[in-house]
Amino acid sequence: MPRTAREIRLKSRPVGMPAPENFELAEVPIPEPGPGQMLIRTIWMSVDPYMRGRMSDRKSYAPPFEVGKAMDGRFVGEVMESNGGRFPKGTFVAGMGGGWKEYHVADGKGLFQANPDIPLQAHIGTYGMPGMTAYVGLLDIGQPKPGETVLVSAASGAVGAVVCQIAKIKGCRVVGVAGSDEKCAWLKETAGVDGTVNYKHHKGADALEAAIAEHCPDGVDVYFENVGGDHLTAALNLLNQHGRIAACGMIARYNDADPQPGPPNMFLVVGKRIRMQGFIISDHNDRIPDFNRDMAQWIKEGKVKWRETVFEGLERAPEAFMGLFKGENFGKMLVRVGPDRA
Ligand SMILES: NC(=O)c1ccc[n+]([C@@H]2O[C@H](COP(=O)([O-])OP(=O)(O)OC[C@H]3O[C@@H](n4cnc5c(N)ncnc54)[C@H](OP(=O)(O)O)[C@@H]3O)[C@@H](O)[C@H]2O)c1
Repeated sequence: MPRTAREIRLKSRPVGMPAPENFELAEVPIPEPGPGQMLIRTIWMSVDPYMRGRMSDRKSYAPPFEVGKAMDGRFVGEVMESNGGRFPKGTFVAGMGGGWKEYHVADGKGLFQANPDIPLQAHIGTYGMPGMTAYVGLLDIGQPKPGETVLVSAASGAVGAVVCQIAKIKGCRVVGVAGSDEKCAWLKETAGVDGTVNYKHHKGADALEAAIAEHCPDGVDVYFENVGGDHLTAALNLLNQHGRIAACGMIARYNDADPQPGPPNMFLVVGKRIRMQGFIISDHNDRIPDFNRDMAQWIKEGKVKWRETVFEGLERAPEAFMGLFKGENFGKMLVRVGPDRA
C-alpha cells in the first residue's frame, strides 16, 4: 500500500477554453479513514462538460471548484479499508466525491455498490449519470410518443448515444447530429438511428437545418438539446406545433468568454407552442430505481450499446477533460486511474 497518492487541483480559473496551466498535479499523503469512514481507491474517473462551469466562480447549480484544491467528480473505486464505513473492504462502489484523486476517504453517503453484471466503468457512463440524464431528459422532459421524430445533438456522446437508443426502443424516428463521419456511421449501424448529419460538413444554421430536414420528412417533435448555437436555431425552425425541447446542455457556449446572442428565431416557440424545459439530473433521484431496472434490462438484451474513449493515468485527466470541447471523445470520456484489482 503506497503512502502517498496524486490528485489534480484547479490551479487557476480559465478564461475561454481551459488550458493545461489551469490544472496542477500534486502528491499528498494517503488519508486515514476515521470512525465510520472508508479508504477508497479510484479505478475509473469521469470527466464531464458541466465541470467547465465549476471551474468558473459564477453562481450556478453546482458550487465552483476552489483554486488550489482538488477538483471533484464521479468515480468508480474499490474500498481498501473500512473503519465501520457503509461498505466492507473489497466492495466496488460508484458515486460522487472521488474523482480527480487516486485515493480518498468517505463515509459512503451518496455512494452505491456496483452492479456485478455491468462493466465497472459503465457506472459513470451508460449505467450512471449520463445514461440517467438521457433517460429522464428524453422520457420525462421530452415525452416522445411512438412514431414521433426525435432530433439529438452531440448524438454519439455519453448522453446523446443513450438518448438515441431509448428513443428507438420507444418506437420513434431518430435523427442524430455528430461531429465526424465515423461517429455518424456508428450511430446508424450500431445505435440504429434513422438518419445522421455530420454538422462539420454543413456550416451555419441554414446549411445545418437543410441537412437535418432531409431526414425529417414529418418535421421534429422532440429536440434533445446538448449543444446550443446553430444546432438550436436549426431545431427551432424544424420543430412541429407542440414540439418539445429537452434542454440538457449547450456545450458550444461553455467556453464563451463573453455572452453570445441567442437564436434569432426564438419567437417561434410562441407560434409553434413549443415547450422548452431545462433540467438538472440531480433533481430527479426519485427516478433512479426505474432507470436502474430499465437500463440493466436494455443492456442485457443488447438494446443499448456504447463507445468509450479512455485516457490512461490520472495525470491525463486534464487532457481528457479538454478533449470534450473538441469532440475528441467517441462515446463516454473516461480516465483509467488504477487497475480493476489492486
Ligand atoms: N442537464 C444535466 O443534468 C446534464 C447532465 C449530463 C450532461 N449534460 C449535458 O449534456 C451534454 C452532453 O454531455 P456528455 O457528457 O454526453 O458529453 P459528450 O457528448 O460525451 O461529449 C461532448 C461532445 O460534445 C460535442 N461538442 C463539443 N463542443 C461542441 C461544439 N462547439 N459544437 C458542437 N458539438 C460540440 C462533441 O461531439 P461531436 O464530435 O459530435 O462534436 C463532444 O464529443 C452537455 O451539454 C452536458 O453539459 C447535462
